[in-house]
Amino acid sequence: MEQNIDIKENYIYQLDANLLAILLLDKSSGKNIIWATDNYAERGFGYQSSDQIMVDSITHRNGSVIKPRTTKSKKEQAIRVRDKAEVFTPSWVCNNQNNLVDNAWFGRENVFNTENDQTWITSTEKITFPEGRTWQDYVKANRMEISCGEAPYLASRYDTVTGKWIEVRDRIGILDRKIRIVNENTETEQDWMKWVTKAFQSVYGFEWQGDSLLIARENLLFSFIDYYTDRFTVPPIKEYLVKIAKILSWNLWQMDGLKYVIPNSCKPIENSQLSLFDDRTKNEPCPGCLKNDNALHIGTYCRIMDWSREHSVRFIDLFERSKKHGKV
Ligand SMILES: C[S@@+](CC[C@H](N)C(=O)[O-])C[C@H]1O[C@@H](n2cnc3c(N)ncnc32)[C@H](O)[C@@H]1O
Repeated sequence: MEQNIDIKENYIYQLDANLLAILLLDKSSGKNIIWATDNYAERGFGYQSSDQIMVDSITHRNGSVIKPRTTKSKKEQAIRVRDKAEVFTPSWVCNNQNNLVDNAWFGRENVFNTENDQTWITSTEKITFPEGRTWQDYVKANRMEISCGEAPYLASRYDTVTGKWIEVRDRIGILDRKIRIVNENTETEQDWMKWVTKAFQSVYGFEWQGDSLLIARENLLFSFIDYYTDRFTVPPIKEYLVKIAKILSWNLWQMDGLKYVIPNSCKPIENSQLSLFDDRTKNEPCPGCLKNDNALHIGTYCRIMDWSREHSVRFIDLFERSKKHGKV
């Protein structure tokens, strides 16, 4: 099943008009994600760095605006390396590192595949679990890809460096592995859907650039379509797509990972104190940026969903709590 790796926004729009609107949501601001880069600015109104990405700016006649990195021009790629250190990891390296995490979790090697130079051979036996750990524990374990770009550590529909399509059975992402485990341990469609939903709720990622973040969300949504169709030989119903898209709009979010706020949301504070001799407005810098103290930013702190309690938390609070308990 060879596919085009560039998921067209017009195609998503045709699947369901609401779906793309959900994939563009920013749960921290209650608005849409922003471009957060000048790469599209020459297109004019609506494409500036601080503009929200709207459905209309990436569909219909604008349907080819967003492209994965491998299909961008060399010039565009070079600008993105310079501005945001955008260099993507080849799939065999993602596989190698995801294997290291699984080796530690399972207490043995070659669980999902055996590495072979810059490729791998997928294991075909049903995966067994170590003493004291269940397949449900594996599916529910929370994992995050920091600065996720197009999220190659989470889902591997294609190699982000070569653009080569990867068949469902040979995928190596964190989410791919969880869905394989669900496939091997559930019988009914209802049970499969229940556990695949938990798998999606357990994978997180953040990214600065709005276009890459949207592509990451699309990659995970289309992974769902690939796996559902592979398992049940028909495509999933729209209600399922909307359900997964809503999870993704929380779990893959836009954040400056150095400050835990929406990119560029710390603006100088206007301080217009009138005095007898000086009535000029003074702009004071954000205290968090000035003192390099992440607790003091005036920008919008990002929120993520704790699905076990069904309520959202500020990422910075989670991070500080983990630091206190020596987990980061
Ligand atoms: C080296 S790429 C890695 C992308 C992906 N994780 C991979 O391995 O292919 C780094 C990514 O970090 C993002 N980035 C750069 N500065 C960032 C920041 N302060 N906060 C969040 N993401 C950032 C870039 O936009 C880029 O997508």
